[in-house]
Amino acid sequence: MYLRSQEWFGRTGKDGFIYRAWMKNQGFPHHLFEGKPVIGICNTFSELTPCNAHFRDLAEAVKRGVWEAGGFPLEFPVMSLGECQMKPTTMLFRNLASMDVEESIRGNSMDAVVLLCGCDKTTPSLVMGACSVDLPTTVVSGGPMLAGKYKGRNIGTSDLWRFAEANKKGEMSQEEFVAAEACMARSQGHCAVMGTASTMAAMVESLGLALPDNATIPAADSRRKVLAHMAGMQAVELAKNNIRPSQILTRQAFENAIMVNAALGGSTNFIIHLTAIAGRMGVQLSIDDFDKLSAQIPLLANLQPSGEHFVEDLFYAGGLPAIIKELSQFLHNDAMTINGRTLGENCQTAECYNREVIASVAEPFKSESGVAILKGNLCPNGAVLKPSAATPELMQHTGRAVVFENIDDYKKRIDDPELDVDPTCVLVLKNVGPKGYPGMPEVGNMQLPAKVLAQGVHDMVRISDGRMSGTGFGTVVLHVSPEAAVGGNLALVQNGDLITLDVEKRLLHLHVEPEELAQRLTHFQPIDLGYERGYTRMYIHHVLQAHEGADFDFLQGSSGPVVKRDSH
Ligand code: FES
Repeated sequence: MYLRSQEWFGRTGKDGFIYRAWMKNQGFPHHLFEGKPVIGICNTFSELTPCNAHFRDLAEAVKRGVWEAGGFPLEFPVMSLGECQMKPTTMLFRNLASMDVEESIRGNSMDAVVLLCGCDKTTPSLVMGACSVDLPTTVVSGGPMLAGKYKGRNIGTSDLWRFAEANKKGEMSQEEFVAAEACMARSQGHCAVMGTASTMAAMVESLGLALPDNATIPAADSRRKVLAHMAGMQAVELAKNNIRPSQILTRQAFENAIMVNAALGGSTNFIIHLTAIAGRMGVQLSIDDFDKLSAQIPLLANLQPSGEHFVEDLFYAGGLPAIIKELSQFLHNDAMTINGRTLGENCQTAECYNREVIASVAEPFKSESGVAILKGNLCPNGAVLKPSAATPELMQHTGRAVVFENIDDYKKRIDDPELDVDPTCVLVLKNVGPKGYPGMPEVGNMQLPAKVLAQGVHDMVRISDGRMSGTGFGTVVLHVSPEAAVGGNLALVQNGDLITLDVEKRLLHLHVEPEELAQRLTHFQPIDLGYERGYTRMYIHHVLQAHEGADFDFLQGSSGPVVKRDSH
């Protein structure tokens, strides 16, 4: 059995002395360095990432599994991205964290790695980094929070948008608003709805990178630790057999993940992250694949924000395996997973215990699922809309554009009583794409103007080059590509232009003649972002557009696990 870690610990002479001696200051006996598979535990624990704040415990459970299977666990920290704390947006740092992960894995003595992922970007960043090394890898997600309890009813992150709206309209007092905060996040774990974190946890399970039930066991449930223990044991097997991500993450695995995500009504951020991961693996995945593969899949999961229930309810109803089994007629059931069994084999005995939460393909929760990829002169490279979270009456709509040049302009004018807007208008927000607002923040589901809300209207067509929180909802067109900041046609929209959204035809059309657009383009001035140094400057220069996964151009692909030069 070849063990990469022996290139450190198996050395003789000065090098071997150096590699082992300092490790021994932690009290490790010599025999641990004599041919045991070393399992790295890549930990995103941070008190500033509350969704991952329980990861020290989770790491201990992984270690127990590694010890039991005869491995040698070594835990290490990497950059942690806390969605609710980090400014300006965690997405700005996803690629940076992936670089930290990649080099931490490659540069250190390990034979396999367990990635501890939770809050939104902590999953794609770790998976992207690990994929570029291609050492045996498995993922343990932190698990969702228990549903919040407020005034006798269940609440989750999606209620934040409703509470904010009610608070703005004076229907919810400030005291009630503050009380709801503590009620919502009442246990460890990540957001309790099918937001981006749970979408990512489901993504790794459907890709075959995590053990069955990884996506849905609540963080506070003792079975989460059992899963972590089993993943530790499995990591030792992966190391012994040198089963690498490149053997798991085939084109078929990516297609499975897209179809499962459609049935779940997962976050729109899924598209960007899965595309970036495919880019690291060298698997060709285009934005059109998401539409094509989702089109045949109905929405099976009745989960917020597309439905009513919480991710813990999905676990009690049978978990992701029950969804995967229900979808078996569509999926590549023979795709291999990290436990040595196929996706189909893993889910063969799964059962659905609650049809309220997991519908059948024959009688789905909604026929429209997944994501619609729009094309048209406003988004030649695509834009994204989540039909299951949109208002059916607005999915075919023509309206007058009300334009905001950037997020500051939006904040300044959205509630201005003089703003010329009515519920039939289309709100257009520019310059919040990957380069225009570095990191492409989740501002796409912009709050409606106060004067529209006052009319009892809760949704309007909104268009931007930004993203939306996985917990958000509405008739929101996102990820317009090319973005305004690089001179995409979004930059050329003016107040009063007519825009047509036709989801059935997958169309987003700006009713302005090509000659007029060409004329407007001659006046286009790239905005001065003012980042002269540091990471953000590098980001702006190298980030790809949304439809390409917003990875850095120089990070695509894999360099493998080999360290080119020795340290001594
Ligand atoms: Fe961390 Fe929602 S804020 S998952």
